[in-house]
Amino acid sequence: GFDIGKLRAQTGLVTLDSGYGNTAGCKSAITYLDGEQGILRYRGYPIEQLAERGTFLETAYLLINGELPTVDELATFQGEITQHTLLHEDVKRFFDGFPSDAHPMAMLTSVVSALSTFYQDSHNPFDERQRHISTIRLLAKLPTIAAYAYKKAMGHPIVYPRNDLGYVENFLRMTFSVPAAEYEVDPVVANALDKLLILHADHEQNCSASTVRIVGSSQANLFVSISAGINALWGPLHGGANAAVLEMLEDIQRQGGDVDSFIRKVKNKEQGVRLMGFGHRVYKSFDPRAKIIKAAAHDVLSALGKSDELLDIALRLEERALSDDYFVSRNLYPNVDFYTGLIYRAMGFPTSMFTVLFALGRLPGWIAQWHEMITDPTTRIGRPRQIYTGVVERDYTPVEQR
Ligand code: ACO
Repeated sequence: GFDIGKLRAQTGLVTLDSGYGNTAGCKSAITYLDGEQGILRYRGYPIEQLAERGTFLETAYLLINGELPTVDELATFQGEITQHTLLHEDVKRFFDGFPSDAHPMAMLTSVVSALSTFYQDSHNPFDERQRHISTIRLLAKLPTIAAYAYKKAMGHPIVYPRNDLGYVENFLRMTFSVPAAEYEVDPVVANALDKLLILHADHEQNCSASTVRIVGSSQANLFVSISAGINALWGPLHGGANAAVLEMLEDIQRQGGDVDSFIRKVKNKEQGVRLMGFGHRVYKSFDPRAKIIKAAAHDVLSALGKSDELLDIALRLEERALSDDYFVSRNLYPNVDFYTGLIYRAMGFPTSMFTVLFALGRLPGWIAQWHEMITDPTTRIGRPRQIYTGVVERDYTPVEQR
């Protein structure tokens, strides 16, 4: 035990809040989330409306600038992004240097960080022009970097961007075209991916956005702040969950599709097994994104004429969990990641690319939060306190006396 009175005397009042479950790190006007009622809104617009009627680029504009763009504003924004889709030729040598089995998330974060070596006009976060051009460059180049990472993993030659295509279409083509066969963009796939990116575009103070803010609060540049966010996203409890869900479903399939014995393992907490794609820190009734994505999974799979035994396993898992007291009493519902992997797989992406797709979607949210943080005069460097539990004091002994 430690002496709380003594600690207060030393530090003033310190709140211990593991995982910051009750601590607001900032004020924000970007995303509204009501976990009890399952409400998610970007700048006041319900996620359902944006996913149904909006596009990813206008959603990105909305998050970053606070308002939906007019026709002219959208054309300018799109035009600027289109102009910056190419990567410097020297970036190719980064990919040459990565081992062939490098994880795409590791390549993504390294190259995003390395963008700050190419753009010396990106290092001053208080220069509005620098903030703008860095924002455009990131939005334009992340799909190109993601596609290069895929090509590296496949051992295929890279495909350069084509600026007559839309944002998502261009990404799909850079990913799936090979010299022997030009990829014909399927509108069903492009629309579904655009919708998925919108659904991932922001989620207030999640682990990766908080990371972007805390790194940015030291006045580090946008590229390295975003790179830190990509690292945070990679973990299986955050964006890595979409890949972990698919691995879990494949595991269950290998065991003959026995959903009941998997649920038993989860309930017994055998080796820390969790039902991946279930549970959320804030949503306690349902995740509104998961509702939309579940419907999209059915639509995409049937439009592509793909039946997937894994979808059947996922549906059975969900049904089984939602009628089990273990999950009900802990308010565990499917989250955004439960069905996304099945859609990505039907589109032809390998599991290792799933979290990269999450990063493409989340990028505007990270950028919007970094802008909000850096332009807020009340921002202070992120610097949590601690409750020290170590040895109070002792004397040094020379090594030969220990
Ligand atoms: N499967 C089984 N049990 C779970 C799960 C799960 N998916 N999630 C939470 N629990 C249990 C915990 O074991 C704990 O039980 P206990 O009270 O008996 O110890 C209780 O529910 C509360 O769980 P916490 O871990 O305290 O909840 P927290 O808010 O810290 O974690 C998280 C939220 C990380 C999302 C968690 O639910 C989880 O690990 N889910 C699986 C991973 C996942 O899908 N992550 C994606 C999240 S969404 C996103 O990032 C886009």
